[in-house]
Amino acid sequence: MTLHVAASVVEQVRLARDTYRIRLHAPALAAAIRPGQFVMLRLPNTTDPLLGRPFALYDTVLENGEVVGFDVVYLVVGKMTRRLAEIRVGEPLEVVGPLGNGFAPLTGLGHVGLVAGGIGQTPFLAYIRQLLGERGYGGQSPSRAVQRVSIFYGVRTADLAAGVDEFRAAGAEVYLATEDGSLGEKGYVTELLRRHGPVDHLVGCGPEPMLHALMRLADEWRTSCHVSLETPMACGVGICFSCVTRVKTSDGWDYRRVCVDGPVFDAACLAR
Ligand SMILES: Cc1cc2nc3c(=O)[nH]c(=O)nc-3n(C[C@H](O)[C@H](O)[C@H](O)COP(=O)(O)OP(=O)(O)OC[C@H]3O[C@@H](n4cnc5c(N)ncnc54)[C@H](O)[C@@H]3O)c2cc1C
Ligand code: FES
Repeated sequence: MTLHVAASVVEQVRLARDTYRIRLHAPALAAAIRPGQFVMLRLPNTTDPLLGRPFALYDTVLENGEVVGFDVVYLVVGKMTRRLAEIRVGEPLEVVGPLGNGFAPLTGLGHVGLVAGGIGQTPFLAYIRQLLGERGYGGQSPSRAVQRVSIFYGVRTADLAAGVDEFRAAGAEVYLATEDGSLGEKGYVTELLRRHGPVDHLVGCGPEPMLHALMRLADEWRTSCHVSLETPMACGVGICFSCVTRVKTSDGWDYRRVCVDGPVFDAACLAR
């Protein structure tokens, strides 16, 4: 069930250059949301910006074993995210969620590779914890689904890398790439992944060119691959059709709304 709540800001922490983690108190929504799902955040009492913006679940927040809230990690790129960075603890935000399909539950896999570019790492912390059985989401008990999770994470330069220690603490092996070589290996994250070699299943989130390169590599390796799309969205709930993406169906090509049919898609259905 989708909830529409006024959630108060509990914490606002800088993680990297122009990158913040905002913590929201919203027990009912946080108890329902699963990794790969997202929320629409909107500033109350203003029409500028008028529309909310989509942000992935970073992770839920527990207090004495109870789910009380959730975190979103965001990069400041425009009007909404600039205003978000100015919000103080105690102020409210309008939140609609949980939205979207979330990551597919996986079972019996050996090694899963998560591939993130830019701010595309944000959906992966909760997913690592879910896959490794560290935490349950959406009312499910924790249960280990895979033997090993690696995250391949690429950013333009070192000071944009956010959450690396948290990924390690959650139990993932972390491989880093930067375009200027200031952290990890120099080059694109998909080149880093190629040098590492095949895994049993791939999941990607990041800019479109990165996802296209990832899907081509998955084809080459004949590895199953899911991708989470960051398509701009106006309503987030399936009404406006501003978010459509082209998918392959049994009858040819068709369109799907990323907000309700995604944001996670099987790469086999998407154009390269
Ligand atoms: C399902 C989903 C989950 C997302 N999760 C996160 C997240 O966890 N953290 C995060 O920082 N961002 C996330 N995004 C992207 C985020 O929604 C946009 O960065 C945000 O809408 C920008 O709002 P703004 O008002 O600050 O920028 P705007 O003023 O709307 O735009 C500023 C600039 O960014 C460009 N832009 C806006 N949206 C996007 C986009 N989706 N992709 C590429 N360019 C864009 C615009 O064309 C413009 O050039 C997600 C997007 C989707 C669809
Ligand atoms: S954002 Fe409106 S239909 Fe998807």
